[in-house]
Amino acid sequence: MRKQLLATCAGALLVAGSHAAMAADGPHKKAIEARQAMFQLYSYHMGLLGGMAKGKIPYDAAIASEAAANLDAAANLGQSTLWPAGSDNSNAENGKTRALKEIWDTYPAIAEKSEQLKEATAVLAQNAGNGLDALKSSIGDAGAACKACHDDYRAKKK
Ligand code: HEC
Repeated sequence: MRKQLLATCAGALLVAGSHAAMAADGPHKKAIEARQAMFQLYSYHMGLLGGMAKGKIPYDAAIASEAAANLDAAANLGQSTLWPAGSDNSNAENGKTRALKEIWDTYPAIAEKSEQLKEATAVLAQNAGNGLDALKSSIGDAGAACKACHDDYRAKKK
């Protein structure tokens, strides 16, 4: 039993290792992965809230409240080490990033978009647990804040 477990772990490590070798391994790999993980947190919680707002997931006040609080917390994470200069998508050594060079070229303009999101998630966190109508009336601004930043600073999917 123990031996089998070890064999499975070794197999998993091997797969993870070969995956890493395939991806670009530039100096900003960790920062890029960390910021993408942050966006995955945004996306997961927006998915729950959006699913409830659209009636695809039954509304649950406790879950909505927690999801909105988590989204607000994630939107307020400090990001000063997540965006090192040179970690944009114009350099192949950065691998899979969609961060446009405009972020750095026009800095600090992007901070306005972050502020827009934080304002929207603060309101959403106040309202999401107060019933489906309250959730519906405040999720739009958060979605719009995601889109506004993506329109200007995230490359389209290839
Ligand atoms: C201030 C700008 C900004 C805001 C606000 C923003 N994004 Fe993004 N988002 C980006 C950029 C830039 C990238 C590309 C990051 C990269 O690939 O290095 C990105 C990437 C993503 C990704 C892909 C992550 C991955 O694994 O590659 C998802 C999903 C995402 N954003 C969802 C959201 C959601 C949902 C919101 C709103 C709740 C949001 N974003 C708000 C700028 C923003």
